[in-house]
Amino acid sequence: MKLSNVFALCCLLCGLAGNSAPAAESRNLLGAWLVQPRSAPGVLMSTATFTAKRDGVVGVWRANDGLSRYSITNVAVSGDIVSFKLADGNDSERWQGRFISDVELRIQPTDSDLPAAVTTLKRLSPGDLAKLQATQPTNLITHKVPLPALKDLPSNGLALTPPMGWNSWNHFLEAIDDRTVRETADALVSSGLRDVGYVYVNIDDGWQGRRDSKGELHSNSKFPDMKALADYIHSKGLKLGLYSSPGPVSCAGYVASHGYERRDADTFARWGVDYLKYDWCSAQQIYRSREEMRALYQKMGEALQATGRPIVYSLCQYGLFDVGSWGRKVGGNSWRISGDIVDSWASMSRNGFEPHDDPAIARPGSWNDPDMLEVGNGGMSEEEYRTHLTLWSIQAAPLILGNDVRTMSAPTLALLLNREVIAIDQDALGIQGKRALSREGTEIWTKPLKDHATAVALFNRGASAALVAVSWSDIGIAGARHVRDVWKHADLGQSEATYQVSIPAHGAVLLRVSTRS
Ligand code: GLA
Repeated sequence: MKLSNVFALCCLLCGLAGNSAPAAESRNLLGAWLVQPRSAPGVLMSTATFTAKRDGVVGVWRANDGLSRYSITNVAVSGDIVSFKLADGNDSERWQGRFISDVELRIQPTDSDLPAAVTTLKRLSPGDLAKLQATQPTNLITHKVPLPALKDLPSNGLALTPPMGWNSWNHFLEAIDDRTVRETADALVSSGLRDVGYVYVNIDDGWQGRRDSKGELHSNSKFPDMKALADYIHSKGLKLGLYSSPGPVSCAGYVASHGYERRDADTFARWGVDYLKYDWCSAQQIYRSREEMRALYQKMGEALQATGRPIVYSLCQYGLFDVGSWGRKVGGNSWRISGDIVDSWASMSRNGFEPHDDPAIARPGSWNDPDMLEVGNGGMSEEEYRTHLTLWSIQAAPLILGNDVRTMSAPTLALLLNREVIAIDQDALGIQGKRALSREGTEIWTKPLKDHATAVALFNRGASAALVAVSWSDIGIAGARHVRDVWKHADLGQSEATYQVSIPAHGAVLLRVSTRS
């Protein structure tokens, strides 16, 4: 195996020392280090141990599977900067990084083409190591496994309009359980959200339990019977989504599908799962090339299709490696195009106004995904949440709610229930809208709709109210048009050539512009 993979895992080890490191620095670097998966404190993927030899510091990296072992040489430390070479006899790679403190190190390969491949290493005392080893998930495969030859999978025929539903992560993080999911399903029905299209009930990270000695993955004690939960959700006219990762562990450190793809896909299908979000995360500690990433996603895409059950396949890999050019080919129905959204104007604006995608790629069955919604979580104003939904709808983005729908306010529900806004997102043509004009903090975006209509979104990104005007001819619309404000459900009459409106700070207006009402 190429060491390349290793590192990531290994990296942790890196730690250490300097060629001719001064004694004090060398002492700080020696000992055991844990590779810390992102947001997964306590998961032991691999360790590195550094020892002082007569001619400098050397290290050894061991994966938690007990199979992989790499040597670390050429260790150098200068101030906070650390570098080393990782080798397995056939291959070697250089890594570099810095100490954040005496007990934490962040490093990455110097030749990486994977921007997010920064790995955190945490110092381990011998006692910590023993404790971790006693509580680790078992049967993790942390070395490279054979990957399928790349090919283009057929479409699964699903998600002909952008998926709509709810996901647990943005509001609940890992604090999710069977009861909360059932109550959420009930609330989706009683609130009317199901009936306007929000049908997927997606359990994100935190449902996974252990993998038994036969390789079968089980849910954890918070989800005592996943099949019964799926039955309940289906009985409400809803669909169940789950989350896993192509790496050995998920982002939050739970057992994931690496090396067990077929097995897990069969389990998901048997439970009655209708949607899988597949999150790169720890896979980046083993695989780092575009081909490997594509092959891993293809592997699960093939496994899902082989089950014969219709399962929407949602790729979550933060837009790395130009996923838009191959996401559909691995059977994907959507792919993330950015890092995680959080519930703030700045974060929502980054994901929504500055997407790193090619709008032309979106079409029925496969969608660019700027991440799940934060509407109703409390970090933005009602006006900003309206802008959030307008941006996602004009871009034909998946509309996956991220709030607690059991307790949402009436204004939040009113935003989410607006059928005319949803109709723009879900328009059958499946064309992703894009920015047409931008000036002084205001923007006009357009999206072609069926029946020769056009959705026109006017945004004010500024911190005070602004007059926003648009000439139809500037956005490719010829002649007079009937104009409807879809947020207000109000016909605005016939407009000859231009339209203008005062928009509050961080606000948006969404119009349906057509030849007749
Ligand atoms: C990543 C994803 C999030 C969420 C978490 C779960 O950060 O991007 O959407 O799924 O993992 O750990």
